[in-house]
Amino acid sequence: MKPLSLIRDAVRAKEILTVLVRYGFSNLLEQVNAPTGWISKIVQREQVPFNIWQRIRMVCEDLGPTAVKLGQLLSTQPDVIPEPLIEEFKLLQHRVNPLPFSDIHNVLEEELGTKLGTLFSEIEGVSIGSGSIAQVHRARIRETGQWVALKIQRPGVIKALRTDLDILSWLAREVHEHVEHLRPYNLPSVVDMLKNAILRETDFTIEANNTRNFNQSNPYKEWVFAPKVYLEWSSSRLLVTDYIEGKSPSHIEEIDTGNRARLATHGGISVFHQIIIKGFFHADPHPGNIIITPEGKICLIDWGLVGQLTRHMRYALADMLTALKSKDAERITRVALSMGKDAKPLDNDHLEMQVARVMARYPDLDVGKIGKVIMELIHVLGVNGISLSRDYTLLAKSILSIEQTGNALDPEFDIGAVAKPFLEQLAFERINPLLRWKEVVRNLHNGIFKLNELPADINRLIHRIERGEITVNMQHTGLEKLSETLNSTSNRLMLAIIIGSLIIGSSMIITTGVAPLFLGFPVIGIVGYLLSIFLGLWIVFDILRHGRHK
Ligand SMILES: Nc1ncnc2c1ncn2[C@@H]1O[C@H](COP(=O)(O)OP(=O)(O)O)[C@@H](O)[C@H]1O
Ligand SMILES: [Mg+2]
Repeated sequence: MKPLSLIRDAVRAKEILTVLVRYGFSNLLEQVNAPTGWISKIVQREQVPFNIWQRIRMVCEDLGPTAVKLGQLLSTQPDVIPEPLIEEFKLLQHRVNPLPFSDIHNVLEEELGTKLGTLFSEIEGVSIGSGSIAQVHRARIRETGQWVALKIQRPGVIKALRTDLDILSWLAREVHEHVEHLRPYNLPSVVDMLKNAILRETDFTIEANNTRNFNQSNPYKEWVFAPKVYLEWSSSRLLVTDYIEGKSPSHIEEIDTGNRARLATHGGISVFHQIIIKGFFHADPHPGNIIITPEGKICLIDWGLVGQLTRHMRYALADMLTALKSKDAERITRVALSMGKDAKPLDNDHLEMQVARVMARYPDLDVGKIGKVIMELIHVLGVNGISLSRDYTLLAKSILSIEQTGNALDPEFDIGAVAKPFLEQLAFERINPLLRWKEVVRNLHNGIFKLNELPADINRLIHRIERGEITVNMQHTGLEKLSETLNSTSNRLMLAIIIGSLIIGSSMIITTGVAPLFLGFPVIGIVGYLLSIFLGLWIVFDILRHGRHK
């Protein structure tokens, strides 16, 4: 294991440990190999008056932007993160202070490859939004007069992320090794998964492509859209999109009351179309990523985190939503198992009982509860050793976000009703003979295409036979047993011959009377006899133990 002293940034490691101790996690650190000198010097706040979930969230806040990002991402992992902690992590969304514009000016010019003044006639120094990885500034294109949003990465953020992630990997491995009750959560693999997810989010070209992808396959353009992306100015550290004027649903009082229910429904329709029909969806449609335009359209921004579902995953999801409606724990467990990567629960009955317990807590599943139930079910699966593909967990997060945003807009918003027509469309797709027929034709087409190549293949084969190039590799199954039997039989025979020789040799020596003598008989002869008796008994014992054929 990599000792802490070898980790690149020991100063940062000390900061992290300090914050952990300050919020009452010294017990945990005492169980891992953290340098004890460090911990004893850190003064712990007297009796931290918060519960464990609040304290974990505060640790993230104190550790700065990278830990905040981590917390936000962890809120998409209901399989390993309990629901109350997910709720705490959601509070992390809007709390990062922006850097002064002078600090990011150079990064902007570096990424654009030119002076800002040549492209933009105005740039606002005050950020209009700042997250853990980037901050956003408004600018006006000199040539067209169009306002754009410049989403620019904070300088040094990737290096800081890597350092924090390295330290976190170390901490996760230590905790995994030394703290038994946290072992089922397999923290090292969670950190590994997060590492990949975070590093993907730091590449804005992925976000640019996702945004364009959505716009190209969105059939509800009159209700919902994503901002236009300026690919020619965007890079891995800078994303340039149209600035979208409007209000966020997080300031619900600013949204026209007469419009709220319609907005909730349209947002829900778009998200369920993305999930169920397209299998490509915005994984975090929370109010901070939604802008309601003055014309009453919904703009979805921040496409850094998306989920993708294959056709089979979409079918499994449909089965799950139907099973949830039936509230039948056995059926829900069965579908859940079919979704799992490692579908062997530690204890099937125990899992089913836990599923039943979750369902019992939500007797009325209709309004505002589906996202929560799915998150809890995924958690139950996770602690029972069944891991789901990350896209399923993103999906749960997406459903939860849209359900909560929808309910904030309209307390009557019912995602079950919004999802229904899409589920029906999917069910139809599954049984539709026309679509099935299309699949058959596609397979046939592939088959015929292969048939086309058959004469050439046969020709090649005949030539190789003629040239004597064909070798046949045959492996007879079951011969291993025969060879084992032969081995053990010949060993026994050898032993029997040795015993026989020992007896004959000893008998000859006994009659010679050569010294040394014991009870009047030569000692060598006696030893020979004893040895042959011992070996003989051993053979008999071996035959009785393994049967005659082994
Ligand atoms: N195209 C845009 N038009 C208007 N506001 C935007 C735009 N892009 C970002 N913002 C503002 O900046 C904030 C942060 O941007 P976002 O892409 O969500 O970054 P993060 O990944 O840090 O959440 C948003 O909540 C929004 O207020
Ligand atoms: Mg955002």
